[in-house]
Amino acid sequence: MGLNDAGQGWHTDMSYSKDIALANVLHAQRVPVRNGKSVGETQFRNMHAAYDELPDSIKHRIEGRTATHDFEKFWEEMRKRPGSRRAKLTEEQKRRKPPVSQPLVRVHPLTGRNILYANPGYTISIDGMDPQESGSILDYLFRHQERADFLYAHHWAEGDVLMWDNIGTVHNAVADYLPDEPRYMRRAQVMATLDYPALVA
Ligand SMILES: [Fe+2]
Repeated sequence: MGLNDAGQGWHTDMSYSKDIALANVLHAQRVPVRNGKSVGETQFRNMHAAYDELPDSIKHRIEGRTATHDFEKFWEEMRKRPGSRRAKLTEEQKRRKPPVSQPLVRVHPLTGRNILYANPGYTISIDGMDPQESGSILDYLFRHQERADFLYAHHWAEGDVLMWDNIGTVHNAVADYLPDEPRYMRRAQVMATLDYPALVA
């Protein structure tokens, strides 16, 4: 990763893209350790469980809906952080990553179960909905995702290889390490480029 703020803030990789990412792999090459404990954990939230645990009233309100995901949302959040060296996206960069619509409830291509497909990093609005209602439902969904029983935090050890279901999770890189505590990860991503017949619930 070229930027030291990569992956901070809850998101699902590539949700801003028409071709979404199925799985991610990280291989820990260097892991900072402080007072005998590794820092820089990576956190995950389970979007199968998040969907299952939604109240029926909310399930009905988001059923069959799509939401817009925009790469620029995450980029701008990172730019607001102190010390960020990110420049504003150019018009050309924006043209290359235009906002896309994704189903809010998605059938996971491998489990065949419904998942909640919305993340605070990239999801900006629910399509065709009054902006205020859209904003309040998204706020609700993002808060709902914060439930402690949906969380898994991975504490790294050097040599770990972690592979995760990117479609069925949101993740966050915790940046609690300092510039003199180097952390180096190698990363691979598996795209979901096949056309699945039933991606929309
Ligand atoms: Fe990520």
